[in-house]
Amino acid sequence: LVTVALALAGCTADPEPRREPRSTPTPGATPGVTPGPAGVGDPYFPTAGNSGYDVERYTLKVRYDPASDELRGDATVRATAGADLPLFHLDLAGLTVRRVTVDGNPARHTREGTELVVTPAAPVRAGAAFTVQVGYDGRPEPLRNETIGEGGWLHTADGAVALGQPESASTWFPVNDHPSDKAAYDFEITVPKGLVAVANGVPRGQRPAAGGYTTWRWSEAAPMASYLSTVVIGKYRTTTGEHRGRPVFSAVADTLPRGAADESIARTVTVADYLESVFGPYPFAAYGGVVVDEPRIRYALETQSRPVYSANFFRGGENTGVVAHELAHQWFGDSVSVARWEDIWLNEGLATYAEWLWSEHEGRDSAQATFDQQYAASDDGVWRVPPAAPGAANLFSESVYQRGAMAVHALRVTVGDDAFFRLLRTWAAEKRNGNATTAEFVATAERVCGQQLDDLFAGWLYGTERPAPPTRR
Ligand code: ARG
Ligand code: ZN
Repeated sequence: LVTVALALAGCTADPEPRREPRSTPTPGATPGVTPGPAGVGDPYFPTAGNSGYDVERYTLKVRYDPASDELRGDATVRATAGADLPLFHLDLAGLTVRRVTVDGNPARHTREGTELVVTPAAPVRAGAAFTVQVGYDGRPEPLRNETIGEGGWLHTADGAVALGQPESASTWFPVNDHPSDKAAYDFEITVPKGLVAVANGVPRGQRPAAGGYTTWRWSEAAPMASYLSTVVIGKYRTTTGEHRGRPVFSAVADTLPRGAADESIARTVTVADYLESVFGPYPFAAYGGVVVDEPRIRYALETQSRPVYSANFFRGGENTGVVAHELAHQWFGDSVSVARWEDIWLNEGLATYAEWLWSEHEGRDSAQATFDQQYAASDDGVWRVPPAAPGAANLFSESVYQRGAMAVHALRVTVGDDAFFRLLRTWAAEKRNGNATTAEFVATAERVCGQQLDDLFAGWLYGTERPAPPTRR
């Protein structure tokens, strides 16, 4: 979710024309994604991700010195080859690669832009599991994207924040950087003693490291899209606990006065329990949230099991709306992930709709009242951009968020509450820990609701003018 100043910027450009796929789809590949040599074939981000293999687990050992901004990394990538691989690509932006091995044998490696190209001593055979180990170091640099802002490792006043959508991971580790290749993660983050180092998933404790450093360990066992990985290093006050047998770990920047940010984050488990009553079981093994006080971060991001929030969200007092939004993404975005970026409304429409439901649950505006306000207030910029084909420049536009949520409400009004809430739970359950497309959502909706809904979705998701208000069929 973006804070107001950013949300108002640049939302009205025409959708980008679709690029032609560059090669034919591999059987069994993610629907809608066409593999290419460097890039998984996402029409909006042609170089993101890589084809030819599927990562199961990243083991990331990173040592970072905020004083010098120097990072030293040792990444182990466990993957399975989908084809014979005489060479393969990983995404890595900046940094210096010192050593690469494949199954323990030294491998040749070159850099091409933001790609690391690895040529193993012998080709990896189709179907084989293999392990790549990369030793690297340097000063990480965030990625610049003219239209949607920067993503990646940011050096902050007292540490660093690694965060961003659609890309961030490749600025601090070698990765198949596309949500179609989800994997488990283990993190060992080594920082000067006295600093906190938070990442995703279950906290695995801390232990002293050489040179007066401390190593913080974290693990995320559920499949995670690379843009949902995060590391936050610095001076933070931390809160730990347990909820329904799962660890809770939250952190708030020490520069912020104790108050609204701490109180809002403390509501995390209450909000998660409410969302669970609507969407079905909470999908992950840990809870939490991190509030950063870094002016370059003006948004919140649903980093898996532990969203990161800009402090700006809490300057006006308690704000559980943003917490509801980021937690709703744990189901829609994190557990059920986009297969390609043009399906972003599946994340943002449903997470924004969760804010509307939470508001009603808390006794503020009802979902219908919020729909009515949005429907009346939305201008041409919203109606001209189709949320299910927004174009890369409009990935985080009002259309994707507000019209996406209006589309969800229009569906609810059309099919009735029974079918609608059954659909949300069915979608979360059937696609749990996977990837999904808009076409699959439409098919699931028609199956669960027992109705033909293509005209409804055509208008709300793909139309370029304001659809008529919905009525019950
Ligand atoms: N997915 C995030 C959210 O809705 C927003 C990320 C905004 N990113 C950006 N590059 N503007 O919570
Ligand atoms: Zn969102």
